[in-house]
Amino acid sequence: MAGTTHLLALFALTQLYSVAASTSDAHAHGHDNDTASSFCHPDQAAALLQLKQSFILDYSTTTLPSWQPGTDCCLWEGVGCDGVSGSSSNSVTVLDLGRRGLYSYSCHAALFNLTSLRYLDLSMNDFGGSRIPEDGFERLSKLTHLNLSYSGFYGQIPIAIGKLKSLVSLDLSSLHNIESAEITNLYAIMDGYNFLVLREPSFKTLLANLNNLRELYLDGVDISSSGEEWSSDLAKAVPRLHVFSMAYCKLNGPIHSSLSSLRSLTVVNLKLNGGISGAVPEFFTDFLNLSVLQLSYNNFSGWFPWKIFQLKNIRVLDVSHNERLSGRIPEFPSGASLETLILQYTNFSGVRLSSFNNLLSLRELGELAPFFSWIRSLKNLTSLHLSDCYSSKLTPPMIGNLTNLTSLEITYCGFVGQIPSSIGNLNKLTSLRISDCAFSGTIPSSIGNLKKLRRLEISYTELSCPITTDFGHLNKLMNDLRGDIPTYLFTLPAMLQLDISSN
Ligand SMILES: *[C@@H]1O[C@H](CO)[C@@H](O)[C@H](O)[C@H]1NC(C)=O
Ligand SMILES: *[C@@H]1O[C@H](CO)[C@@H](O)[C@H](O)[C@H]1NC(C)=O
Ligand SMILES: *[C@@H]1O[C@H](CO)[C@@H](O)[C@H](O)[C@H]1NC(C)=O
Ligand SMILES: *[C@@H]1O[C@H](CO)[C@@H](O)[C@H](O)[C@H]1NC(C)=O
Ligand SMILES: *[C@@H]1O[C@H](CO)[C@@H](O)[C@H](O)[C@H]1NC(C)=O
Ligand SMILES: *[C@@H]1O[C@H](CO)[C@@H](O)[C@H](O)[C@H]1NC(C)=O
Ligand SMILES: *[C@@H]1O[C@H](CO)[C@@H](O)[C@H](O)[C@H]1NC(C)=O
Ligand SMILES: *[C@@H]1O[C@H](CO)[C@@H](O)[C@H](O)[C@H]1NC(C)=O
Ligand SMILES: *[C@@H]1O[C@H](CO)[C@@H](O)[C@H](O)[C@H]1NC(C)=O
Repeated sequence: MAGTTHLLALFALTQLYSVAASTSDAHAHGHDNDTASSFCHPDQAAALLQLKQSFILDYSTTTLPSWQPGTDCCLWEGVGCDGVSGSSSNSVTVLDLGRRGLYSYSCHAALFNLTSLRYLDLSMNDFGGSRIPEDGFERLSKLTHLNLSYSGFYGQIPIAIGKLKSLVSLDLSSLHNIESAEITNLYAIMDGYNFLVLREPSFKTLLANLNNLRELYLDGVDISSSGEEWSSDLAKAVPRLHVFSMAYCKLNGPIHSSLSSLRSLTVVNLKLNGGISGAVPEFFTDFLNLSVLQLSYNNFSGWFPWKIFQLKNIRVLDVSHNERLSGRIPEFPSGASLETLILQYTNFSGVRLSSFNNLLSLRELGELAPFFSWIRSLKNLTSLHLSDCYSSKLTPPMIGNLTNLTSLEITYCGFVGQIPSSIGNLNKLTSLRISDCAFSGTIPSSIGNLKKLRRLEISYTELSCPITTDFGHLNKLMNDLRGDIPTYLFTLPAMLQLDISSN
């Protein structure tokens, strides 16, 4: 479902772009037509050029070379236009400068002269820790999509953004340096550092006029000032929300029952807040389109509503690091779509062998020790990712029976001894990754049976012995992990990626 919403957004964008492309085609044909019937509006070209000047291009990864005075700005990199019938020029409706590594000391006010913008993406640039401008965004009243994520903005989010009534999608995420590996306890999360903050205006005030929002991403924004009201504020303000992602926002208190009205939710991400407490609400089971539920690193307690496991569309379920959260795993319905299930550091028990029969793919199973016995029943599994299972010393012996696997990853696990040679039974494998595990000894020669393997990564293990065995179909892929890498490695037909680093 999250995928669908992203696709929709992308579709909307490509629609706008195709308008841009067709008008610019028309223009390309009439380049020497001095009536210039479809040229970008000169004021908007001037504003864009001024914006370009505000970037320190020496430190940026692009210099926006197509942005040249006297050319049609509708053809410039990242710019899209829309023809307005009866007018002599086109309005700039799309500005997508996302992921371009642009550097600036602040967001220049020329941006706010582009009042016809509907889509604005400035994500993944660097505005030097400046504030999001206090005034200006309110002029972009036609905006439906605004993405300022990961752009090094700092401080209070201005109310100007709360005035953009047409917004359908808002992304102000600024999650910084949060690696779950570094998190030792909930208090570390709560003492951590946020770049952006919602205090004045508050979360409630910011959302008050944004009733059209379908997607809201505020990962890493400090919203602690909303106290325990955040969930009722959300439910009241944005009734049609499909996606909300508020990881690491320092939220606390229980989830309010009024959130049950947001029945169109497909993605709920509340991980890494530390302080969200109380029960996981039963009403999540009424969200029939729910596909992603991330509640890890909080303070949930009580029993997890088991029907959530049975939601037809649930794909990602992460409740890990809620040590007082209890639950059991029921049978999955046939056609279930669960891919990722993360349960470590919870009080789940009673996993039954038959529960997982209908699953085709599972990732990041987490602390697996108590669950190994059921893996053998997952004959239909096509992808398996075992990770963070430090306390388990034994590789699941039945791994070689999962013959439908096309992708197997074993990362950050405490497995000791040899990599099981039964891995060679998995003859549908196209990708095998073993990383950060305690395996030692030799890489089993049975890996040579994996004719379809396209990607092999064996890194950060303790494998040190020379490999002298014949790798069969991998055609002596590796001779000695300590020796030279043979050049024929780079000519094997199926192999697209090989990583045997750090051994
Ligand atoms: C030049 O513009 C005029 C008026 O918009 C239009 O009728 C004509 O077809 C254009 N000529 C070319 C070569 O595009
Ligand atoms: C922005 O528009 C104002 C008038 O609304 C004008 O005075 C100013 O020069 C414009 N700036 C740019 C960079 O186009
Ligand atoms: C915003 O931009 C980031 C980085 O480019 C991207 O990952 C994210 O999906 C975008 N947000 C939305 C809502 O499209
Ligand atoms: C769930 O998704 C379907 C298909 O996209 C849609 O028709 C339906 O309205 C959605 N249900 C809710 C409660 O939003
Ligand atoms: C978790 O919630 C309990 C009350 O349910 C509280 O006593 C405890 O301090 C909370 N822990 C944290 C880290 O917030
Ligand atoms: C853990 O689950 C068991 C039942 O499986 C229950 O008896 C126990 O109280 C739970 N512990 C906590 C801390 O909730
Ligand atoms: C595997 O999938 C098939 C249908 O694709 C199904 O008939 C069979 O029961 C499944 N087996 C297991 C062990 O889940
Ligand atoms: C592999 O999956 C297919 C369905 O996709 C199923 O029919 C078959 O039994 C599975 N193979 C094994 C060894 O279980
Ligand atoms: C797993 O495969 C082995 C052969 O590799 C076979 O002897 C064993 O019966 C299989 N186990 C299950 C549970 O299918």
